[in-house]
Amino acid sequence: MSSPRERAIKPTDLRGILRYVPMFRDHIFVIAVDGAVVGHENFVNLVTDIAVLRSLSIKVVLVHGIGHQLGELIREHHVKAADIQGEGPTDAPTMSLAREAAALVSQTILENLSQAGLRCAITNAVRATRVGVIRGKDHLFTGKVEKVDTALLTSMLNQDILPLVTPIVCDREGQSLRVNSDHLAAELAVALRASKLIYLTPYTGLTVNGEVKVNLPEDELATLLKDKKLGLEPRLRSKAMHAAFALDEGVPRAHILDGRVFGGLLIEIFDKVGLGTMVHANDYDRIRLAKKKDTQALYNLAKHGARSDALIARSRQQIDQSISDFIVYEIDDSIIGCAALRKYTDQSHIMEVGAVYVQPFYHGRGVGKKLVEYIKRKAKQAGAKKLIALTTQTQGFFTGACDFEEGSLADLPAQRRRELKNSGRGSRVLTFSLKRFIENPR
Ligand SMILES: CC(C)(COP(=O)(O)OP(=O)(O)OC[C@H]1O[C@@H](n2cnc3c(N)ncnc32)[C@H](O)[C@@H]1OP(=O)(O)O)[C@@H](O)C(=O)NCCC(=O)NCCS
Repeated sequence: MSSPRERAIKPTDLRGILRYVPMFRDHIFVIAVDGAVVGHENFVNLVTDIAVLRSLSIKVVLVHGIGHQLGELIREHHVKAADIQGEGPTDAPTMSLAREAAALVSQTILENLSQAGLRCAITNAVRATRVGVIRGKDHLFTGKVEKVDTALLTSMLNQDILPLVTPIVCDREGQSLRVNSDHLAAELAVALRASKLIYLTPYTGLTVNGEVKVNLPEDELATLLKDKKLGLEPRLRSKAMHAAFALDEGVPRAHILDGRVFGGLLIEIFDKVGLGTMVHANDYDRIRLAKKKDTQALYNLAKHGARSDALIARSRQQIDQSISDFIVYEIDDSIIGCAALRKYTDQSHIMEVGAVYVQPFYHGRGVGKKLVEYIKRKAKQAGAKKLIALTTQTQGFFTGACDFEEGSLADLPAQRRRELKNSGRGSRVLTFSLKRFIENPR
């Protein structure tokens, strides 16, 4: 495996990176930095990487840990700490030093963010509550997230202010509690519906049998976490467990990587392979191939789409005959969306995505995009090089969300061109090069 230095982004990679720019614009990334990473010499470079993300209109929320600094203070003061990670009980002397450690770490971060010209603010947007007594043990000043003021955080992000969240969080009465930063970051990512939860750690990533897992589907992570013999380092296990929680709650990607590597954050996000571990949600678990028994439900969907002229009217018989072209999106046993992949008889390397329809109640939740992504995958597996979409009303969806480009009638095989002319629908021709399709984008 090449070293991170060798894998640093080269100017020639910029073209590839540019693909991700519209994909992440205005998306929220929650980045959790371990205290050990803040204390490392690379932290100044890491802040520059964050400034790059901001310049690409990615909204960043920064959470920091204090374990490393708290450990140092405890040694210095010869205090017998109950727990330094905010998982076990936090007694009064530890709490007092935790406040000191948090002030130290957040001030260091503020200094670095200021140097990079980034506007930021520490807030009380998170409210904590005491963990209380667990299996007979009072956890004293250890807290957990009770509520996230998403309105406050969103308004800061919209004003170009980077929220910095520390692991000393007030409860309803204004009492400070020590909250584990892995948990804090995961809760923030869920509440803010972030696109990414990124843990910057002093570890290379999730290592299983001596090998760093680069791409890990969430179900595989769940299986790994149940494996008692795995022997995961406790700090990594904590991040893995909180990543699994966030994915379960709808965050699509969680990353665990070494924050001490020069350029590491950008490599992880913009490089095809990345640097550490990316855990990804199973985007397609609600999508399946259509079966004969779905004909009626598909006919009903097509009928609704045809009413607004967004879809071509299809008879039940037409759907029945082409049922193997369809895929369906299912929620609680009912079909709420569909799409079809059409092959051309005169051109095998070109295919067409059509009949993309999502029930209005489910609009804007990413269903349409996932259906088109699934169709891209299917077309690529079938050996196609180019995917066509013909649309009358949804050009913006295909070009903006699904990365299609404006094409022309010349992109169509002759027979389809004739068919389109005869239909009089005046559809626009859009194309997507399947060479650019990446199965699990970062
Ligand atoms: C077009 C359609 C399939 C989109 O489905 P959806 O599940 O709402 O889409 P998603 O939630 O995946 O949207 C993904 C993105 O596309 C954008 N988008 C959705 N519809 C759009 C449209 N008509 N024009 C421009 N952008 C659109 C969303 O805002 C979202 O943007 P974001 O990622 O920045 O948040 C759905 O609106 C639909 O069924 N329309 C009627 C049928 C139709 O016109 N089908 C196309 C015929 S080929």
